[in-house]
Amino acid sequence: MDKIIIEGGRPLQGEIKISGAKNGALPIIAATLLCPGTHTIRNVPELRDIRTILQLLETLGVTWQRVDTNTLEINSDNVTEFEASYELVKTMRASVLVLGPLLARLGQARVSLPGGCAIGARPIDFHMRGFEKLGAQLELTQGYVDAKVSGSLRGGTIYFDVPSVTGTENILMAAVLAEGTTVIKNAAKEPEIGNLIDMLVGMGADIEGRSTDRLTVHGVKKLGQADIAIIPDRIETGTYLIAVGAVGGDVTLTHCNPSHLPALFEKLRYSGLHLEKGKDTIRVIRSGNLKNVDLKTMPYPGFATDLQAQMMALMTLTNGLSVIHENIFENRFMHVAELRRMGADIMVDGGKAIVKGAGKLTGAQVMATDLRASASLVVAGLAAQGVTEISRVYHLDRGYDDLVGKLSAVGAKIWREAE
Ligand code: EPU
Repeated sequence: MDKIIIEGGRPLQGEIKISGAKNGALPIIAATLLCPGTHTIRNVPELRDIRTILQLLETLGVTWQRVDTNTLEINSDNVTEFEASYELVKTMRASVLVLGPLLARLGQARVSLPGGCAIGARPIDFHMRGFEKLGAQLELTQGYVDAKVSGSLRGGTIYFDVPSVTGTENILMAAVLAEGTTVIKNAAKEPEIGNLIDMLVGMGADIEGRSTDRLTVHGVKKLGQADIAIIPDRIETGTYLIAVGAVGGDVTLTHCNPSHLPALFEKLRYSGLHLEKGKDTIRVIRSGNLKNVDLKTMPYPGFATDLQAQMMALMTLTNGLSVIHENIFENRFMHVAELRRMGADIMVDGGKAIVKGAGKLTGAQVMATDLRASASLVVAGLAAQGVTEISRVYHLDRGYDDLVGKLSAVGAKIWREAE
């Protein structure tokens, strides 16, 4: 296992190229199971989660090759198996995304039920109820969800109590080949869902309501090959914007989509950062002091829960009080204890954290607990006085393409060492 070491306090200067979105690529790769053919997926990031989903697809009969660094050709002519094992699902919950396409294509799927994880219980009851509405029978045996349908899936109306990202994606993938019309009410509106819809429509699916909370899917008999580019990773983009805010400097992010971060822009501008949006670039400059802001995580277009930990690290560097409400996941404050080791003054009360900014952090040995918590420790380490050592960095490898390389190229003193 590797650790990351950061010598903090060096302002960042230069350009960072943003990679394709992890959470865009995962459902899109799963959707290649829907029909035979060779599907081309472009702008795929190099991440551990991507390797995991490809490994899962291989166990189902799929073959794939990398035609260049970021382009995959996935051949799903032979999908013979329909089980996602506990071994794979426990390393990556997004493995449940094969349920929808397998049900649609083979009429059956067996997927290990994900357990709780570092950020909360994260049940998949919405997905399961949705499949039942489409005519599938579901049973829970020995920790596995067994889903079957006699004949083909049929359209139905599904309402989510709260918008679920992978829930919406899973139902969409099942509904595109169902008989009749499916309506998803209170659907999630994250840009990654738009990316999946663009792929499915390109394959011949009939979907109305893109980017709204009401999606209507008119089932089609057949789908064709996909050719789709993954959208830029808005969470990677946000993480680097926050990093520049934390340590200072002048950085231009390229290959990104500035329109995908409305809530973060608002908060960072209020915090005192200068942000210039281009068509697919964002220039961020921090010269003066940081101002404290409050925030609440919400489904898109609200403030992303996946940026809450990084923003909390930034708030420890102000000289004021910041109240952060985590409304999506019940246990997403694991970074607090680690930030405290770096001198942060943070009080947690249920889903609320009160950050008393002290204007500085000091380097320490800290431990990564989940992907975004690790990113917040990197942000903190870049700004801290002295040396920060982050252990268990395999969490970061799940979701940040070449983080050390990208930050080193803009002047950070950051490197990996074997633990
Ligand atoms: N929920 C249920 N039942 C369900 C599904 C969700 O109660 O069946 C609840 C969840 O517990 C949560 C809320 O609904 O309180 C929203 O969760 P959602 O289903 O949207 O989360 P997800 O689809 O499991 C995706 C991302 C997460 C991101 C969340 C929220 C992927 C592969 N994962 O998870 O990404 O935090 O949406 O935006 O798209 C990450 O990248 O670090 C990450 C955790």
